[in-house]
Amino acid sequence: MQKSKFLNIVLATAVLVLTVLLSTKNDKSVMKSSKNAAGSVENRPSDSTFIPFKKRSLGVRAELHPKPAAVIGTYDKDGKPNIMTAAWIGISNSDPLSIAVSMRPATYSYANVTESGAFTVNIPSAELAKYVDYAGRFSGRDVDKFKETGLTPLRSEFVNAPYIKEFPLVIECELTEYHDLGSHRQFIGKIIDVKADEAILDAEGRVDVSLLNPLIYAGRNYYETGAFVAEVGESLHEIDGKPFIPDYRRKHMNETLKVIHSRKSVRHFTDQAVSKEQIELLLQAGMAAPTAVNRQPWAFYVVTRRETLDSLSEQLPYAKMLSQAQAAIVVCGDMEKAGNLKDKAYWVQDCSAATQNILLAAESIGLGAVWTAVFPYDDRSKVVIETLKLPGHHIPLNVIPIGYPTSEDTPKDKWKPENVFWQ
Ligand SMILES: Cc1cc2nc3c(=O)[nH]c(=O)nc-3n(C[C@H](O)[C@H](O)[C@H](O)COP(=O)(O)O)c2cc1C
Repeated sequence: MQKSKFLNIVLATAVLVLTVLLSTKNDKSVMKSSKNAAGSVENRPSDSTFIPFKKRSLGVRAELHPKPAAVIGTYDKDGKPNIMTAAWIGISNSDPLSIAVSMRPATYSYANVTESGAFTVNIPSAELAKYVDYAGRFSGRDVDKFKETGLTPLRSEFVNAPYIKEFPLVIECELTEYHDLGSHRQFIGKIIDVKADEAILDAEGRVDVSLLNPLIYAGRNYYETGAFVAEVGESLHEIDGKPFIPDYRRKHMNETLKVIHSRKSVRHFTDQAVSKEQIELLLQAGMAAPTAVNRQPWAFYVVTRRETLDSLSEQLPYAKMLSQAQAAIVVCGDMEKAGNLKDKAYWVQDCSAATQNILLAAESIGLGAVWTAVFPYDDRSKVVIETLKLPGHHIPLNVIPIGYPTSEDTPKDKWKPENVFWQ
């Protein structure tokens, strides 16, 4: 090799090494200042997970994520209720608090909102996906979507629009203005009232997003909402000396803790059959739970008949996944065994402990299950009592759909040190 060529290579390598060193130094100083400002940045596993640096241009695409999959309720000119799915939607103003929803002129709902001056935004939880899909595929011009889906329209007491009884969260809006943007008309609706199912409220009466588990639309697929990450404004701080990113590689796990931490509410099942032996394992685990005064005030109904599972799925608003499940265990309190008036109420704790054992046992043998509440809702109780023809002294606490999980459901990290009060 010529001497000058060799020198050139040495020089180029030196420049490269220097550039890398400098850029690393810069990165470190940025990291340091953000650490100083906000805590434990350097403790994070690997910054390459947070800062993707190799970007590719995708052109003009609607890649704003996450997009809600909401269902808009309207009346047509004859007062007939209609629903339509909309993902081009979002909060657009704080005062007055308003929502913008964009609709194509070809939709039936477009004319409905324009003429009625109102709409409702119905937010589905993930298990209501099939209704969202239906409302987004068919037009109210051709079908009665409420009739076809079996959903129930209820008249809003505040605005001239219907909302969906079975959806957990409803926002009632009065049209204030609209803008023709090109393909879509953007309707601005002032929020007049919000209604939420009590089952999705936290102790302070606020909507708990993990209980709501809203459906997310992502172009080709629907997703459900993921795990809690951090409180707003707290995400850069250390929590109890640890970085806020949950440590899923928990060390010092034993088999029991692993099952406890990997249990999740499984709402999606494959069509693989579940055997009687497997169900018996779950029931044995259920009956191993502690009960007050050892009364064992319970009765377990095992449902495997397809028509019964489907019928319960149709009638119970939060147990739609029964249509995919291979079996269900209905945990009931047995009032003939529940004791006298004073401690009768323990049946709820006793049957809840049994339920949790069943859920953990399912996880431990590779099955999926989910607790769908029946008690204390009269309407759900009536459905279960009538469908399963339960005797008067058996009170259904819940329905647990069971099957082999698809990989769609994952465990949530719910560890929050701030919920613990050491004394
Ligand atoms: C997930 C999803 C999101 C949608 N988002 C919108 C939207 O934001 N705006 C719109 O005009 N149509 C949207 N559509 C299409 C309408 O829902 C569809 O055209 C529907 O049939 C209209 O119903 P209608 O004619 O009864 O009003 C969406 C459909 C799906 C499945």
